[in-house]
Amino acid sequence: MFVVRGGRPLRGRVSVSGAKNAALPIMAAALSARGTTLLRGVPELVDVSTLSQVLQSLGMTVERHADGTLALTAEDDQRCLADYELVRRMRASVCVLGPLLGRRGRACVSLPGGCNIGHRPIDLHLKGLRALGAEITIDRGYVFAKADQLIGTDIYLGGSFGSTVTGTCNVLCAAVFAKGTTTISSAACEPEVVDLGNYLNEMGARIEGLGTPFLRIEGVEELNAVEHTVIPDRIEAATLLVAAAITGGCLQIDNVEPTHLAAVFDVLRMMGVGIEISGKSLTVIAPDKLRSLDVTALPYPGIPTDVQAQLTALLSLANGISVVTDKIFPDRFMHIPELMRMGANVRREGASSIISGIGTLTGACVMASDLRASAALLLAALAADGESVIRRVYHLDRGYERLERKLNDVGADIERVIDLPENMPHSLQLSVEEQRPLAIDSSDVPAPKFLSRAEAARQRAES
Ligand code: UD1
Repeated sequence: MFVVRGGRPLRGRVSVSGAKNAALPIMAAALSARGTTLLRGVPELVDVSTLSQVLQSLGMTVERHADGTLALTAEDDQRCLADYELVRRMRASVCVLGPLLGRRGRACVSLPGGCNIGHRPIDLHLKGLRALGAEITIDRGYVFAKADQLIGTDIYLGGSFGSTVTGTCNVLCAAVFAKGTTTISSAACEPEVVDLGNYLNEMGARIEGLGTPFLRIEGVEELNAVEHTVIPDRIEAATLLVAAAITGGCLQIDNVEPTHLAAVFDVLRMMGVGIEISGKSLTVIAPDKLRSLDVTALPYPGIPTDVQAQLTALLSLANGISVVTDKIFPDRFMHIPELMRMGANVRREGASSIISGIGTLTGACVMASDLRASAALLLAALAADGESVIRRVYHLDRGYERLERKLNDVGADIERVIDLPENMPHSLQLSVEEQRPLAIDSSDVPAPKFLSRAEAARQRAES
């Protein structure tokens, strides 16, 4: 758990790591390459090591070189089983489905199960792969997919919540090996999909239209391993922007792709946050007073759903009423009750939360439920008066590389300790003096009656 001593403005310089959500599908796509793929900018995260284990179980060697480069080589291309025990630890493991089917003609991948951020089916992934001619069955919790030769076709990949990011990645990775031309309409336009597409093209694929909802893919027979640098993490950048704004600080944030953050800049500026862009760096200056705002999470280039919780933490301190709506994951509000433990005034209304801004948050003991919710709680704790405890920070370790160290380097006070009662700060425990007025007058309450077993047996017999 983290013990956070809040109320310290962050000041200094911090650098963003490579994007988790780009690195994962790219690592999975390395299954398709002949030779050794070298990936730079892959963050050191629990999710990356989980996917490395999945890839190793699929016959790949995965090594981290001293300079941080990740080297991936497919040694045994007969294996095609992504086991339940590994996939259940990280749903992005489903990214191996498309590359396995495309390159090896077979895939057996455990269906990802439930998730804390809401219902997350993979029906669109399967629809796209079936359209390419794959035979797909679900059996004992696994997706079995096979095709001797995938055939290019026209695929519409939109669903009730818009496009799908990992679904587009999966269909793209299979379609690069399909015979003839494939078109994908309503493809996801997220920068992470573009990074995957660029990487596939560098390997020899022929994909056009990346970054638009219309992709055109000419199938090829083979892909060759290349070196590739993963794009900077726009969600980490946005989290750091909010960290500066929520603590009343000023940060220089390096290794940023500003074009990926246009919507985030827009909402932060409307709240009064100062943002200056210089090449791949940003300077963020918190305003004296934050203004309230209505924000809706939408597919790219809209506000990312992965930043919704962090913005909610920030808006809980803004002057006025804000409405935050999530159109991608309408149930992604697990952070709200925990923010309320810190004093935030928030009401959930369907796919929206209605936030009445307050002057200050107060430190409390809170529980992280998922990756971005933990980031939101950490941000709130950085701004809160007094000490906070955030439990289950393993969620944070899944997706942020050394976040507490980065924040401590710019003035935060975050301590990682084992979640034990003795590590709970005294300031969060009620003192005896504080408890005394709460004590119930014993004359008001009948004394509880504890019966011995013999007495209880006698009473039962009498009744
Ligand atoms: C990816 C990101 C995740 C981010 C999300 C939305 C990775 C590893 N994860 O998740 O961090 O929050 O994009 O930007 O990159 N849907 C269906 N059927 C499907 C697939 C999705 O109905 O077959 C729905 C989902 O339930 C959701 C919406 O479509 O409502 C978007 O999901 P999707 O883009 O697929 O999210 P992920 O790729 O799982």
